[in-house]
Amino acid sequence: MASNVPTSTGLISSWFVEDLVLDRPDAKAKHIIQCIGSSSLDKGKEFAKKHCPNASPTIYGTYQEVYNNLDVDCVYIGTPHSFHKQNCLDAIAAGKNVLCEKAFTINAAEAKEVFDAAEKKGVYVHEAMWLRHRPLVVELRSLLFDDKVIGDVFRMSSDFSLLIDIPNLPDTSRYKDLNLGAGTLLDLGIYPLTWSFLALDPNKPGASEKPNVFATQTHIDGVEVTSSILLQYPSTGRQGVVTSTTMSGLRDPVVCRIQGTKGHVDVEGAAAAAPLSFTVYRRKPGTKSDTKDDFETKKYDYPKIGRGFIYEADNTAVDIAAGRKESAIMPWGETIRVMEIMDEIRKQGGTKYPQDQA
Ligand SMILES: NC(=O)c1ccc[n+]([C@@H]2O[C@H](COP(=O)([O-])OP(=O)(O)OC[C@H]3O[C@@H](n4cnc5c(N)ncnc54)[C@H](OP(=O)(O)O)[C@@H]3O)[C@@H](O)[C@H]2O)c1
Repeated sequence: MASNVPTSTGLISSWFVEDLVLDRPDAKAKHIIQCIGSSSLDKGKEFAKKHCPNASPTIYGTYQEVYNNLDVDCVYIGTPHSFHKQNCLDAIAAGKNVLCEKAFTINAAEAKEVFDAAEKKGVYVHEAMWLRHRPLVVELRSLLFDDKVIGDVFRMSSDFSLLIDIPNLPDTSRYKDLNLGAGTLLDLGIYPLTWSFLALDPNKPGASEKPNVFATQTHIDGVEVTSSILLQYPSTGRQGVVTSTTMSGLRDPVVCRIQGTKGHVDVEGAAAAAPLSFTVYRRKPGTKSDTKDDFETKKYDYPKIGRGFIYEADNTAVDIAAGRKESAIMPWGETIRVMEIMDEIRKQGGTKYPQDQA
């Protein structure tokens, strides 16, 4: 059991809270929305009425009051990326466990600062990379690397596109303001990037291999609007092609394709962040080409429970109840590694945030 408390009343907090209050007889944990923190009491009240009408949380007009509440076990941080570091540090200073949205921070240096503080204070901190918690991902990796259903994986590709009319947004929008971490990589590209790690590297998070990275990024009015990244794993030669853009809303129903020496896997879903099924295409024995009829196929479907945030929420609650300080699915070292890779992509692509050191 854990009290999971959102700070901020934006889009992601609403999705997360709606999933937390779903009625699930087989839930691994019971979540109580003890309170809600917002920059405005009225926004907080409106949020509670709309997204968790049966939960009766206490509403605060500051985040600090949430951190100070002794009944709170875990704080969920859903502010724009640039606030994550300070929100985490404030919650940690008050002795709170934290589940913090992706991108965990603006850069790796900030992430290290947060984990150093968590270690000193002895609290649990976990980057909310919900994709990694999905049962689909666990089964897929077992089929790829334990059963080798498509032979030896040699490459993957994944894209996340979202059409956003950035020039016509207010300057204060998190999609436009560099102070808030505007850009596709930290917002969208982090998902296809995560797919590359999941599909190409059999190692457990925390023991992952460092890929070589080649990246290019395009900017409009200083905001990064398209990223293209090539990854190559030195030990296997496996390659990943990872892209993100806010210039197009076109999405392929295949959110990730993984190819191996004996076939391929297509992961299907609404977006790279939200896979719903995958299909294994195994080349039939004796086949010399790869036409449609040359494959035997098997589709793996997964139930759609809310939006899919329950898995990370339950795993966080179970971790905290067990006294763990890190998630085995997204340990601190893995968050730092992902941030370092994104730092390198931004360095090559020419994206700099005010928070980056000179
Ligand atoms: N896991 C996912 O699938 C997913 C999806 C979308 C976003 N995210 C992540 O979640 C975070 C928030 O994204 P979002 O789309 O929910 O953003 P959003 O809708 O703009 O909400 C952000 C909230 O943060 C608070 N905030 C505090 N200071 C702010 C400021 N100066 N400007 C704007 N907001 C401020 C506001 O809440 P109060 O006024 O109530 O304090 C605001 O409603 C980002 O890091 C993003 O990467 C994750």
